[in-house]
Amino acid sequence: MSKQILCLPGDGIGPEIMAEALKVLDAAKLRFGLDIEVSHGLVGGAAIDQYGVPLSDETLTLARNSDGILFGAVGGPKWDDQPMANRPEKGLLQLRSALDLFANLRPAMLFPQLADASSLKPELVAGLDILIVRELTGGIYFGDPRGVRTLENGEREGYNTYVYRESEIRRIAKVAFEAARKRGRRLCSVDKSNVLEVTGLWREVVIAESASYHDVELSHMYVDNAAMQLVRAPKQFDVMVTGNMFGDILSDCAAMLTGSIGMLPSASLNEKNQGMYEPVHGSAPDIAGQNKANPLAQILSLAMLLRYSLADGSSLADGSALADGSASGENIAAEAIEKAVSDVLDKGYRTRDIASDGCQVVGTAEMGDAVVDCLLNA
Ligand code: IPM
Ligand code: MG
Repeated sequence: MSKQILCLPGDGIGPEIMAEALKVLDAAKLRFGLDIEVSHGLVGGAAIDQYGVPLSDETLTLARNSDGILFGAVGGPKWDDQPMANRPEKGLLQLRSALDLFANLRPAMLFPQLADASSLKPELVAGLDILIVRELTGGIYFGDPRGVRTLENGEREGYNTYVYRESEIRRIAKVAFEAARKRGRRLCSVDKSNVLEVTGLWREVVIAESASYHDVELSHMYVDNAAMQLVRAPKQFDVMVTGNMFGDILSDCAAMLTGSIGMLPSASLNEKNQGMYEPVHGSAPDIAGQNKANPLAQILSLAMLLRYSLADGSSLADGSALADGSASGENIAAEAIEKAVSDVLDKGYRTRDIASDGCQVVGTAEMGDAVVDCLLNA
Protein backbone atom coordinates (compact mmCIF):
# COMPACT_ATOMS: atom_id res chain seq x y z
CA MET A 1 0.00 0.00 0.00
CA SER A 2 1.35 3.43 -0.79
CA LYS A 3 2.35 5.65 2.07
CA GLN A 4 0.68 9.02 2.48
CA ILE A 5 2.34 12.38 2.94
CA LEU A 6 0.24 15.46 3.62
CA CYS A 7 1.87 18.61 2.42
CA LEU A 8 0.99 21.87 4.20
CA PRO A 9 3.07 24.73 2.76
CA GLY A 10 1.44 27.52 4.80
CA ASP A 11 2.41 31.16 4.34
CA GLY A 12 5.27 33.46 3.36
CA ILE A 13 8.20 31.51 1.98
CA GLY A 14 6.40 28.23 2.85
CA PRO A 15 5.01 27.53 -0.63
CA GLU A 16 8.34 28.33 -2.35
CA ILE A 17 10.48 26.09 -0.20
CA MET A 18 7.82 23.36 -0.26
CA ALA A 19 7.90 23.36 -4.07
CA GLU A 20 11.61 22.57 -3.89
CA ALA A 21 11.11 19.79 -1.34
CA LEU A 22 8.45 18.26 -3.60
CA LYS A 23 10.86 18.33 -6.56
CA VAL A 24 13.33 16.45 -4.38
CA LEU A 25 10.65 13.97 -3.30
CA ASP A 26 9.74 13.26 -6.93
CA ALA A 27 13.40 12.66 -7.74
CA ALA A 28 13.77 10.35 -4.71
CA LYS A 29 10.66 8.38 -5.72
CA LEU A 30 12.08 7.97 -9.19
CA ARG A 31 15.52 6.94 -8.11
CA PHE A 32 14.57 4.65 -5.23
CA GLY A 33 11.19 3.40 -6.46
CA LEU A 34 9.31 4.67 -3.40
CA ASP A 35 5.55 4.23 -3.30
CA ILE A 36 4.40 7.51 -1.78
CA GLU A 37 1.27 9.54 -2.45
CA VAL A 38 1.14 13.24 -1.67
CA SER A 39 -1.97 15.18 -0.75
CA HIS A 40 -2.14 18.93 -0.19
CA GLY A 41 -3.85 21.22 2.26
CA LEU A 42 -3.96 24.79 3.51
CA VAL A 43 -2.84 25.88 6.94
CA GLY A 44 -2.20 29.15 8.77
CA GLY A 45 -2.99 32.44 7.04
CA ALA A 46 -3.68 30.66 3.74
CA ALA A 47 -6.40 28.64 5.49
CA ILE A 48 -7.81 31.75 7.20
CA ASP A 49 -8.17 33.38 3.78
CA GLN A 50 -9.92 30.33 2.36
CA TYR A 51 -11.95 28.94 5.26
CA GLY A 52 -11.83 31.63 7.96
CA VAL A 53 -9.86 29.38 10.34
CA PRO A 54 -6.14 28.46 10.46
CA LEU A 55 -6.85 24.71 10.44
CA SER A 56 -10.03 23.31 8.91
CA ASP A 57 -11.63 20.04 10.04
CA GLU A 58 -10.96 18.54 6.59
CA THR A 59 -7.26 19.35 6.81
CA LEU A 60 -7.07 17.91 10.31
CA THR A 61 -8.70 14.70 9.08
CA LEU A 62 -6.22 14.51 6.21
CA ALA A 63 -3.45 14.99 8.76
CA ARG A 64 -4.76 12.23 11.02
CA ASN A 65 -4.90 9.83 8.08
CA SER A 66 -1.42 10.51 6.76
CA ASP A 67 1.79 8.71 7.66
CA GLY A 68 3.72 11.94 7.75
CA ILE A 69 3.06 15.67 7.39
CA LEU A 70 5.48 17.97 5.65
CA PHE A 71 4.87 21.46 6.99
CA GLY A 72 6.25 24.74 5.66
CA ALA A 73 5.78 27.83 7.84
CA VAL A 74 2.89 29.99 8.98
CA GLY A 75 2.17 33.62 9.80
CA GLY A 76 2.70 37.09 8.40
CA PRO A 77 1.69 40.73 8.87
CA LYS A 78 -1.48 40.23 6.83
CA TRP A 79 -3.00 38.27 9.73
CA ASP A 80 -1.55 40.28 12.63
CA ASP A 81 -4.95 41.71 13.54
CA GLN A 82 -6.55 38.27 13.94
CA PRO A 83 -7.63 37.52 17.51
CA MET A 84 -5.13 35.29 19.35
CA ALA A 85 -7.43 32.26 19.05
CA ASN A 86 -7.50 32.55 15.26
CA ARG A 87 -3.91 33.51 14.44
CA PRO A 88 -2.08 31.50 11.74
CA GLU A 89 0.21 30.02 14.42
CA LYS A 90 -2.85 28.39 16.02
CA GLY A 91 -3.09 26.10 12.99
CA LEU A 92 0.34 24.72 13.81
CA LEU A 93 -0.36 24.49 17.54
CA GLN A 94 -3.68 22.72 16.94
CA LEU A 95 -2.00 20.15 14.70
CA ARG A 96 0.68 19.49 17.31
CA SER A 97 -1.93 19.13 20.03
CA ALA A 98 -4.58 17.15 18.12
CA LEU A 99 -2.05 14.58 16.92
CA ASP A 100 -0.27 14.56 20.29
CA LEU A 101 3.08 15.33 18.64
CA PHE A 102 4.81 15.75 21.98
CA ALA A 103 8.39 14.95 20.98
CA ASN A 104 10.07 17.68 18.99
CA LEU A 105 13.53 16.77 17.77
CA ARG A 106 15.61 19.71 16.63
CA PRO A 107 19.09 18.76 15.54
CA ALA A 108 21.61 21.58 15.25
CA MET A 109 24.35 20.14 13.13
CA LEU A 110 26.97 22.15 11.38
CA PHE A 111 27.75 21.29 7.80
CA PRO A 112 31.55 21.72 7.75
CA GLN A 113 31.22 23.72 4.52
CA LEU A 114 29.33 26.40 6.48
CA ALA A 115 31.66 26.94 9.43
CA ASP A 116 32.36 30.44 8.09
CA ALA A 117 28.68 31.34 7.92
CA SER A 118 28.19 31.03 11.68
CA SER A 119 28.25 34.21 13.72
CA LEU A 120 30.58 32.40 16.13
CA LYS A 121 34.26 31.70 15.47
CA PRO A 122 34.71 28.60 13.27
CA GLU A 123 36.73 26.78 15.97
CA LEU A 124 33.82 27.12 18.42
CA VAL A 125 31.34 25.49 16.05
CA ALA A 126 33.40 23.10 13.89
CA GLY A 127 31.99 19.62 14.42
CA LEU A 128 28.92 20.92 16.27
CA ASP A 129 26.21 18.25 16.60
CA ILE A 130 23.51 18.97 19.18
CA LEU A 131 20.05 17.49 19.43
CA ILE A 132 17.45 19.58 21.23
CA VAL A 133 14.49 17.52 22.43
CA ARG A 134 11.68 19.97 23.07
CA GLU A 135 8.40 19.03 24.75
CA LEU A 136 5.80 20.26 22.29
CA THR A 137 2.25 19.75 23.53
CA GLY A 138 2.34 21.07 27.07
CA GLY A 139 3.88 23.73 29.25
CA ILE A 140 2.98 27.39 29.10
CA TYR A 141 1.96 27.14 25.43
CA PHE A 142 -1.10 25.09 26.32
CA GLY A 143 -1.67 25.72 30.05
CA ASP A 144 -5.00 27.00 31.38
CA PRO A 145 -6.13 29.47 32.58
CA ARG A 146 -4.87 31.95 30.02
CA GLY A 147 -6.08 35.29 28.81
CA VAL A 148 -6.28 38.99 29.52
CA ARG A 149 -8.60 40.20 32.28
CA THR A 150 -9.57 43.61 33.62
CA LEU A 151 -8.86 44.20 37.28
CA GLU A 152 -11.13 46.11 39.65
CA ASN A 153 -9.10 49.28 39.17
CA GLY A 154 -9.67 49.04 35.41
CA GLU A 155 -6.11 47.99 34.61
CA ARG A 156 -5.72 45.00 32.29
CA GLU A 157 -3.61 41.98 33.26
CA GLY A 158 -2.39 39.22 30.96
CA TYR A 159 -1.75 35.73 32.30
CA ASN A 160 -0.68 32.25 31.20
CA THR A 161 -0.13 29.06 33.13
CA TYR A 162 3.07 27.05 33.10
CA VAL A 163 2.01 23.52 33.92
CA TYR A 164 3.46 20.02 33.44
CA ARG A 165 2.21 16.65 34.63
CA GLU A 166 4.63 13.96 35.71
CA SER A 167 3.50 11.73 32.84
CA GLU A 168 4.23 14.47 30.29
CA ILE A 169 7.71 15.01 31.71
CA ARG A 170 8.41 11.28 31.90
CA ARG A 171 7.56 10.55 28.29
CA ILE A 172 9.69 13.36 26.88
CA ALA A 173 12.55 12.43 29.22
CA LYS A 174 12.40 8.85 27.88
CA VAL A 175 12.66 10.07 24.29
CA ALA A 176 15.64 12.22 25.23
CA PHE A 177 17.42 9.42 27.11
CA GLU A 178 16.83 7.02 24.21
CA ALA A 179 18.20 9.59 21.77
CA ALA A 180 21.25 10.21 23.96
CA ARG A 181 21.86 6.48 24.17
CA LYS A 182 22.08 6.34 20.36
CA ARG A 183 24.44 9.33 20.24
CA GLY A 184 27.07 10.65 22.64
CA ARG A 185 25.36 9.32 25.81
CA ARG A 186 25.15 12.72 27.44
CA LEU A 187 21.89 14.43 28.32
CA CYS A 188 21.49 17.94 29.71
CA SER A 189 18.06 18.77 31.11
CA VAL A 190 17.29 22.48 31.06
CA ASP A 191 14.95 24.04 33.62
CA LYS A 192 14.49 27.02 35.90
CA SER A 193 14.07 25.03 39.07
CA ASN A 194 15.59 27.78 41.22
CA VAL A 195 12.44 29.84 40.60
CA LEU A 196 9.61 27.80 39.07
CA GLU A 197 7.97 24.92 40.95
CA VAL A 198 6.84 23.32 37.71
CA THR A 199 10.42 22.91 36.58
CA GLY A 200 11.46 21.69 40.02
CA LEU A 201 9.09 18.80 39.36
CA TRP A 202 10.58 18.53 35.85
CA ARG A 203 14.03 18.02 37.36
CA GLU A 204 12.76 15.46 39.89
CA VAL A 205 11.04 13.36 37.23
CA VAL A 206 14.03 13.48 34.87
CA ILE A 207 16.30 12.31 37.71
CA ALA A 208 13.89 9.46 38.54
CA GLU A 209 13.83 8.41 34.87
CA SER A 210 17.63 8.38 34.73
CA ALA A 211 17.60 5.26 36.92
CA SER A 212 16.73 3.29 33.76
CA TYR A 213 19.58 4.88 31.82
CA HIS A 214 22.80 4.33 33.75
CA ASP A 215 24.72 4.45 30.50
CA VAL A 216 23.67 8.07 29.89
CA GLU A 217 25.37 10.86 31.82
CA LEU A 218 22.70 13.28 33.05
CA SER A 219 23.35 16.92 33.90
CA HIS A 220 21.05 19.86 34.68
CA MET A 221 21.31 23.50 33.73
CA TYR A 222 19.20 26.56 34.39
CA VAL A 223 17.85 27.98 31.17
CA ASP A 224 19.63 31.33 31.45
CA ASN A 225 22.96 29.58 31.84
CA ALA A 226 22.10 27.17 29.01
CA ALA A 227 21.52 30.12 26.68
CA MET A 228 24.90 31.53 27.64
CA GLN A 229 26.68 28.17 27.32
CA LEU A 230 25.20 27.65 23.86
CA VAL A 231 27.03 30.69 22.57
CA ARG A 232 30.09 30.31 24.83
CA ALA A 233 30.99 26.66 24.28
CA PRO A 234 28.26 24.91 22.30
CA LYS A 235 30.19 21.72 21.71
CA GLN A 236 29.83 20.76 25.38
CA PHE A 237 26.28 19.59 24.55
CA ASP A 238 25.14 16.31 23.07
CA VAL A 239 21.38 16.03 23.74
CA MET A 240 19.40 18.75 25.55
CA VAL A 241 15.87 18.18 26.84
CA THR A 242 13.56 20.94 27.91
CA GLY A 243 9.98 22.21 28.02
CA ASN A 244 8.02 23.85 25.27
CA MET A 245 8.90 27.53 25.70
CA PHE A 246 12.55 27.11 26.71
CA GLY A 247 12.94 24.71 23.79
CA ASP A 248 11.47 27.25 21.40
CA ILE A 249 13.99 29.86 22.46
CA LEU A 250 17.07 27.65 22.78
CA SER A 251 16.48 25.98 19.43
CA ASP A 252 16.55 29.31 17.59
CA CYS A 253 19.77 30.11 19.38
CA ALA A 254 21.29 26.70 18.55
CA ALA A 255 20.13 27.05 14.96
CA MET A 256 22.12 30.22 14.48
CA LEU A 257 25.29 28.43 15.57
CA THR A 258 25.05 26.39 12.40
CA GLY A 259 25.31 29.41 10.15
CA SER A 260 21.70 29.91 9.29
CA ILE A 261 18.37 29.00 10.72
CA GLY A 262 17.58 28.25 7.07
CA MET A 263 19.47 24.96 7.36
CA LEU A 264 17.64 23.26 10.21
CA PRO A 265 14.92 20.64 9.93
CA SER A 266 12.81 19.30 12.77
CA ALA A 267 10.58 16.36 13.56
CA SER A 268 7.57 16.29 15.88
CA LEU A 269 6.48 12.77 16.74
CA ASN A 270 3.75 11.03 18.68
CA GLU A 271 3.84 7.61 20.30
CA LYS A 272 2.53 6.04 17.08
CA ASN A 273 5.47 7.45 15.15
CA GLN A 274 3.24 9.68 13.14
CA GLY A 275 5.11 12.86 12.61
CA MET A 276 5.09 16.37 11.35
CA TYR A 277 8.27 17.71 9.81
CA GLU A 278 9.06 21.37 9.45
CA PRO A 279 11.94 23.77 9.15
CA VAL A 280 12.86 25.45 12.43
CA HIS A 281 12.66 28.85 10.73
CA GLY A 282 9.50 30.87 10.22
CA SER A 283 7.61 32.21 7.21
CA ALA A 284 9.98 35.15 6.55
CA PRO A 285 7.33 37.38 4.94
CA ASP A 286 9.98 40.01 4.14
CA ILE A 287 11.55 37.80 1.47
CA ALA A 288 8.48 35.79 0.43
CA GLY A 289 7.87 35.40 -3.30
CA GLN A 290 11.33 36.66 -4.25
CA ASN A 291 13.13 33.37 -4.87
CA LYS A 292 15.55 34.24 -2.06
CA ALA A 293 14.64 31.76 0.68
CA ASN A 294 16.85 28.83 1.55
CA PRO A 295 14.93 25.60 0.82
CA LEU A 296 17.47 23.29 2.49
CA ALA A 297 15.76 23.08 5.90
CA GLN A 298 12.54 22.05 4.16
CA ILE A 299 14.41 19.50 2.05
CA LEU A 300 16.19 18.12 5.12
CA SER A 301 12.80 17.95 6.88
CA LEU A 302 11.63 15.72 4.06
CA ALA A 303 14.62 13.45 4.66
CA MET A 304 13.67 13.24 8.36
CA LEU A 305 10.08 12.40 7.40
CA LEU A 306 11.21 9.53 5.20
CA ARG A 307 13.45 8.18 7.96
CA TYR A 308 11.30 8.60 11.08
CA SER A 309 7.73 8.16 9.84
CA LEU A 310 7.85 6.25 6.56
CA ALA A 311 10.68 3.74 6.95
CA ASP A 312 9.43 0.40 8.23
CA GLY A 313 10.44 -0.83 11.63
CA SER A 314 11.23 2.44 13.36
CA SER A 315 9.45 3.21 16.58
CA LEU A 316 9.70 6.05 19.03
CA ALA A 317 8.70 3.79 21.89
CA ASP A 318 11.84 1.65 21.77
CA GLY A 319 14.08 4.39 20.45
CA SER A 320 14.60 2.76 17.07
CA ALA A 321 13.14 5.81 15.33
CA LEU A 322 16.06 7.75 16.73
CA ALA A 323 18.74 5.38 15.53
CA ASP A 324 20.31 5.19 12.11
CA GLY A 325 17.70 3.40 10.11
CA SER A 326 17.39 -0.02 8.58
CA ALA A 327 18.16 -0.55 4.92
CA SER A 328 14.59 0.22 3.82
CA GLY A 329 14.11 2.30 0.66
CA GLU A 330 12.96 5.31 2.65
CA ASN A 331 16.05 5.25 4.84
CA ILE A 332 18.33 4.97 1.85
CA ALA A 333 16.49 7.85 0.18
CA ALA A 334 16.79 9.96 3.36
CA GLU A 335 20.51 9.43 3.44
CA ALA A 336 20.84 10.18 -0.26
CA ILE A 337 18.94 13.46 0.15
CA GLU A 338 21.19 14.53 3.03
CA LYS A 339 24.23 13.60 0.97
CA ALA A 340 22.88 15.58 -2.01
CA VAL A 341 22.50 18.67 0.23
CA SER A 342 26.07 18.28 1.38
CA ASP A 343 27.27 17.80 -2.23
CA VAL A 344 25.50 20.98 -3.30
CA LEU A 345 27.31 22.89 -0.54
CA ASP A 346 30.59 21.29 -1.64
CA LYS A 347 29.97 22.61 -5.11
CA GLY A 348 29.80 26.11 -3.64
CA TYR A 349 26.10 26.83 -4.12
CA ARG A 350 24.70 29.11 -1.43
CA THR A 351 21.46 30.97 -0.88
CA ARG A 352 21.91 34.52 0.44
CA ASP A 353 21.56 33.57 4.10
CA ILE A 354 24.60 31.27 4.00
CA ALA A 355 26.64 33.12 1.40
CA SER A 356 30.34 33.74 1.94
CA ASP A 357 33.23 34.90 -0.26
CA GLY A 358 33.89 32.85 -3.37
CA CYS A 359 30.56 31.06 -3.34
CA GLN A 360 27.91 31.10 -5.98
CA VAL A 361 24.77 32.77 -4.68
CA VAL A 362 21.65 31.10 -6.06
CA GLY A 363 17.92 31.47 -5.59
CA THR A 364 15.41 29.13 -3.98
CA ALA A 365 14.52 27.26 -7.18
CA GLU A 366 18.13 26.94 -8.37
CA MET A 367 19.09 25.50 -5.00
CA GLY A 368 16.29 22.93 -5.25
CA ASP A 369 17.34 22.05 -8.80
CA ALA A 370 20.93 21.60 -7.69
CA VAL A 371 19.85 19.15 -4.96
CA VAL A 372 17.74 17.20 -7.47
CA ASP A 373 20.65 17.11 -9.85
CA CYS A 374 23.02 15.73 -7.20
CA LEU A 375 20.40 13.22 -6.07
CA LEU A 376 19.79 11.86 -9.54
CA ASN A 377 23.35 11.94 -10.76
CA ALA A 378 25.28 10.85 -7.68
C1 IPM B 1 8.58 27.08 16.33
C2 IPM B 1 7.78 28.33 16.12
C3 IPM B 1 6.38 28.13 16.68
C4 IPM B 1 6.52 27.88 18.18
C5 IPM B 1 5.38 29.26 16.40
C6 IPM B 1 5.28 29.57 14.93
C7 IPM B 1 4.02 28.95 16.96
O1 IPM B 1 8.43 29.41 16.68
O2 IPM B 1 8.15 26.01 15.85
O3 IPM B 1 9.63 27.16 16.96
O4 IPM B 1 6.59 28.83 18.96
O5 IPM B 1 6.55 26.72 18.56
MG1 MG C 1 10.40 28.97 17.39
